[in-house]
Amino acid sequence: MPGTCVIGLQWGDEAKGKIVDLLTERHDVVVRYQGGANAGHTVVTGGQTYKLSLLPSGILRTSVHSVITGGVVLNPPSILGEIDGLRERGVNVGGNLLMSDRAHVIFPWHLEEDRLIETRKTGGEAIGTTQRGIGPCYKDKVGRTFALRLGDLYRRGFRDRVRDIVDEKNQFLALIAGKNPFTPIDATQVYDQYQGYAERLKPHVADTTSFLLDALEANKRVLFEGAQGALLDVDHGTYPYVTSSNSSGVGIPSGSGVPGRYMNKIMGVVKAYSTRVGGGPFPTEQDNPIGHHLRERGNEYGTVTRRPRRCGWFDAVATRYTARLSGADTICVMLLDVLSGLDTLQICTAYEIDGQRVNVFPSHVDDLRRAKAVYESLPGWKEEITAVRKLADLPANARKYLDRIGEILGRPVEIVSVGPDREQTILS
Ligand code: IMP
Repeated sequence: MPGTCVIGLQWGDEAKGKIVDLLTERHDVVVRYQGGANAGHTVVTGGQTYKLSLLPSGILRTSVHSVITGGVVLNPPSILGEIDGLRERGVNVGGNLLMSDRAHVIFPWHLEEDRLIETRKTGGEAIGTTQRGIGPCYKDKVGRTFALRLGDLYRRGFRDRVRDIVDEKNQFLALIAGKNPFTPIDATQVYDQYQGYAERLKPHVADTTSFLLDALEANKRVLFEGAQGALLDVDHGTYPYVTSSNSSGVGIPSGSGVPGRYMNKIMGVVKAYSTRVGGGPFPTEQDNPIGHHLRERGNEYGTVTRRPRRCGWFDAVATRYTARLSGADTICVMLLDVLSGLDTLQICTAYEIDGQRVNVFPSHVDDLRRAKAVYESLPGWKEEITAVRKLADLPANARKYLDRIGEILGRPVEIVSVGPDREQTILS
């Protein structure tokens, strides 16, 4: 059963793109199955840095099929911009890229709704979305009345559907805008633009569910690339401070149409510390010189929005939960080099909520907000480790730190990353 899955176990940005890139050469197909242009994957290869958002990381290897399935919400100008950018740099994007006719399409009204809703929220209420229209598009998908899938762009009636939806959406946008300015949507302009996008995307549009099932039945090796992280999962994450898709492992079957029986290996990816972008509770956050060290050494600024990420210690309560939830077989620990130079490291092994010690991740955000992290201290190391390629060559304290993470999560640490380049990787 040839399916491998790479899942982020924190709040996204775990450097999954690098793991996917490393694994791609051993696979025939790489699949993006949820999320949209809210995701950012940085892949550094051959001294070149590629920033991808909607395209699967596998796109850099043309021998591999890159597949965007129906669980993704697709923004045509974003994906066309990415394709053009890669072509300008000599990367071949042709029949190796497939996108599902079932994928829902993001329109300008989704972007406007995302912006207006976030503007209305005050203080800690704002989710701090990436403003890429992700939530509003998924909302329309589930609501069914105002949604359009990629396959609809090629059907008769597309123009009328746009006109009808725009009528409704303009009224709705005016309502939620209140006193905030907004530009009403022009149906003809949107239709003309999206007709053009549809023409350009047409060679890539396919029934990806059948494609993947055929590939798996023919024993092709398929790699599933998660976007965001399990703590942002709409059902199992820190709701409502989450994204609008299933970003834990549970999203793979629903997003791709591939049943769980094909997944034979699940790799959970964590940073050696924690980060979070946007709002929501974060028990191990360090809004102090430690957080500053992590942000500057780890270049913790959003790939998509460039927002500074909130930084903190490794939270083993949260990641033990998401490792179990995602069925992780092994753990990949990323950005270990960022911890070099810190005297003492802390791992959160329990929370204290209203005087009670708990080690189960709370299901309600109010409880998580009151959770105080209980830490276990470990000695740090001073040495730079970016040139280390073997576990045995790491400082003893770095090895102890990794061992402790593996022990608490109850899974072996399989890969350790000590820098952004493909070569800066330790396989255990
Ligand atoms: P949305 O996905 O744009 O609706 O944003 C919802 C929440 O998920 C916000 O807190 C975002 O910062 C966060 N988020 C969405 N995509 C990513 C990602 O790729 N990495 C990290 N956080 C993300």
